[in-house]
Amino acid sequence: MDSIPANRRLWNRISGAYQHEHDPQIGAAPRLWGMYSIPDAHLRALGDVTGKRVLELGCGAGQWSRALAAEGADVVGLDLSEAQLGAAARAMGADRYPLVQGTAEQLPFAADTFDLVFCDFGGLSWAPPHLAVPQAARVLRRGGRLVFNVASPWFEACYDEAAARVTTTLQQDYFALDTIAEGDGATSYQLTYGDWVRVLRGASLVIDDLIEPRPDPETLNGYNKTDPPDWAHRWPAELLWVTHKPSSDRL
Ligand SMILES: C[S@@+](CC[C@H](N)C(=O)[O-])C[C@H]1O[C@@H](n2cnc3c(N)ncnc32)[C@H](O)[C@@H]1O
Repeated sequence: MDSIPANRRLWNRISGAYQHEHDPQIGAAPRLWGMYSIPDAHLRALGDVTGKRVLELGCGAGQWSRALAAEGADVVGLDLSEAQLGAAARAMGADRYPLVQGTAEQLPFAADTFDLVFCDFGGLSWAPPHLAVPQAARVLRRGGRLVFNVASPWFEACYDEAAARVTTTLQQDYFALDTIAEGDGATSYQLTYGDWVRVLRGASLVIDDLIEPRPDPETLNGYNKTDPPDWAHRWPAELLWVTHKPSSDRL
């Protein structure tokens, strides 16, 4: 819970510049995953959302929520930053959906509410997963799915902070990833593969798939410099977890 105030301050402070720089890429088309804008039509992670009750955890300016609302989903966009929620409100189109200020660490929803909880570098990158995953599982209905995209441990371990680029050299201890300082007390989070499995299984979620999105060689990373430029074609930059809450307590 300690990172909530600093993360809110960070996102309130950078929201304007972040949206100016990244909204054209994130919102270029509906359902684009991650740093390389890989279409969900290729990855097939989210499925049909028509008529489904959906929660986006850390919705930012709502590029995903807006697209799913237009497809007929009953979406709620949650974010801890009022500046990010303001950007989402301003961008909202004819398909209106509710925006809620809250944190992935303590979701302000009743148990068994949603058919799908998802995010793309949202609450599961910016809240401690050992708190956010059980919260997501709690608000899911039985049979509901938790689908989320985060940076991979490969990406984080090879990231050179000083050069602000991902490299082909191990820069950080894999086992020390855990928390990543984002400046002024703000923190993002990363787990080892084993810890992700334990956190998900510990919340009684079933792991259906771990998609490792692979961009084409020439695809640019819209957020980070990479060396070599086709880094993510050669190594997995992201983890797209596909899980569900079982329909009975028996696993
Ligand atoms: C990288 S953005 C993800 C949104 C969108 N997919 C995007 O790529 O811009 C991260 C979002 O997570 C939100 N966030 C940070 N910490 C959070 C928390 N503890 N709970 C919920 N949202 C949080 C931030 O305010 C920000 O809008």
